[in-house]
Amino acid sequence: MPKLFSQELERLTAAIFTAAGATAQEAAIVSKHLVEANLAGHDSHGVLRIPQYLEAIRSGNIKIGAQPEVISETATTAVVDGRRGFGQVAATEAMRLAIRKARASGIAAVTVRNSNHTGRLASYTLMGAGEGLISIIMVNAGGGGQSMAPFGGISRRLATNPISIAVPSGNCHPLVLDIATSVAPEGKIRAHYLQGKSLPPGWIIDAQGRPSNDPKDFYHPPGGALLPLGGGAGYKGFGLGFMIDILAGALSGAGCCRFEASEPRDGFLILALEIERFTPRKTFHQHVSQLVEYVKSCPPAPGFEEVYVPGEWEFNQERRRRIEGIFVDEPTWQAIAKIAAEHGVSVEVKSEAHHPAH
Ligand SMILES: NC(=O)c1ccc[n+]([C@@H]2O[C@H](COP(=O)([O-])OP(=O)(O)OC[C@H]3O[C@@H](n4cnc5c(N)ncnc54)[C@H](O)[C@@H]3O)[C@@H](O)[C@H]2O)c1
Repeated sequence: MPKLFSQELERLTAAIFTAAGATAQEAAIVSKHLVEANLAGHDSHGVLRIPQYLEAIRSGNIKIGAQPEVISETATTAVVDGRRGFGQVAATEAMRLAIRKARASGIAAVTVRNSNHTGRLASYTLMGAGEGLISIIMVNAGGGGQSMAPFGGISRRLATNPISIAVPSGNCHPLVLDIATSVAPEGKIRAHYLQGKSLPPGWIIDAQGRPSNDPKDFYHPPGGALLPLGGGAGYKGFGLGFMIDILAGALSGAGCCRFEASEPRDGFLILALEIERFTPRKTFHQHVSQLVEYVKSCPPAPGFEEVYVPGEWEFNQERRRRIEGIFVDEPTWQAIAKIAAEHGVSVEVKSEAHHPAH
């Protein structure tokens, strides 16, 4: 299992996308985004996605060189068309636009349609937090990517419709909630499938609606479904995912889940708030700090070492992985090496972290 420093993994990833025809800007944005997901501990949204994106380029689903286009705008709103380019490019541009508008007017709402896979949502809300703003992003797949059963049902009716909310904290890392509305996103099922591992209980059902921990029951025909977030109270995850389908899909024009199957084409809604327009920043930070301190003071339950606040787990992962490097699992590494060879890109890396460590 190779272990690479993030800079090397990012360079290799960018070289592969460039060799596949991506512009320098696209290669830089996408490789940074994927490696950030690995750094944060979300390998399901990291370089594991390279083969998927390369296939989307090959099939024409991702249009190389497409620049997101602002279709209409006001001081506080914008409607953006991702023009079928990389989702990371559209989401980065749309978040920059929302930040500019919220700075100027106090609040901004930006929708995007015609985008591709957006990856790890915290990458975008952290951009807002880095600028001192509160930001929210929610994403659907425009009616495609159906993988989750509704609460009380056994067949796929929704995509995993994720949401991220990030808040600047003042004196610790930004607080970031970043979740799929299914118990686990499809990428985590894929990671288990590729590594031949069983799934934890409660993630999927098979095509007959029976609980399963075999990822093959999800991928092999007739194909089961992901369960909505919440276990016995799965109507909460389902309800959230359902509403996100409307907010991200109907409002953006990307479309919602429906009878006719469609290619995944992400739609999203971004909201940004300038804190100072509502309360002094210092007061806000005081409230947030008090909350963090109070919640973290809770005695840990049996089996837990401490209570974490949203974003803390990823912040700790990133601090460690920046120093120790990122393990790339063997199936993912083999797939990357094959693609690199096909595109004439060398996978030779020189750092110590490359040498197998376990
Ligand atoms: N673009 C897409 O289409 C898409 C779809 C689904 C998911 N995703 C991404 O997949 C990634 C993973 O999603 P997920 O649903 O598996 O997330 P997850 O189940 O790993 O939950 C992550 C969230 O829970 C918090 N958390 C983790 N451990 C915690 C603990 N012990 N105590 C308190 N909080 C804790 C994290 O800080 C984070 O906010 C996200 O980055 C998401 O954006 C993307």
